[in-house]
Amino acid sequence: MSDQSITRESITLLVDQFYSEVRSDPLLQPIFAKVIGDNWTPHLERMVDFWSTVMLGTREFQGNVYGKHMALAGIEPEYFSRWLALFEKTVDALFDDRDATEFITVAHRIAASLQIGFFGSVATSQR
Ligand code: HEM
Repeated sequence: MSDQSITRESITLLVDQFYSEVRSDPLLQPIFAKVIGDNWTPHLERMVDFWSTVMLGTREFQGNVYGKHMALAGIEPEYFSRWLALFEKTVDALFDDRDATEFITVAHRIAASLQIGFFGSVATSQR
């Protein structure tokens, strides 16, 4: 299932696969469990809207990405390394290098701004 083109369908695959990894990750799972509980469907739909807005310019997503993350308690720098590693693994399995790099660049940019908010500096390195 590699080298998909970027469509709402392939973004849905990405989101489903990525959050299924997150849900079985011992570090990240508890953070999501606290906020989302078992109510994953609305979060997954929002994330499909988010990535479609960013990658396809569909403009469905309106949210408060920075504020919602700043409200999360107990986040450490290694949570970002783990999030990005799982995201990169999932993206690389689905898309060609050029498209994968585009997803990953966006994720790193947002991760950097969130890390500045949490810690005052960026611990993760760009791929
Ligand atoms: C330490 C890493 C991260 C953790 C633990 C985390 C956790 C979460 C959680 C728990 C929510 C749900 C918040 C809520 O509904 O109140 C959320 C929402 C979201 N996250 Fe993250 N996140 C991380 C990194 C990232 C990164 C790097 C991105 C960049 C793409 C991202 C994009 C989003 C978006 C777009 C939302 C939806 C915001 C909204 O509903 O307005 N997250 N995240």
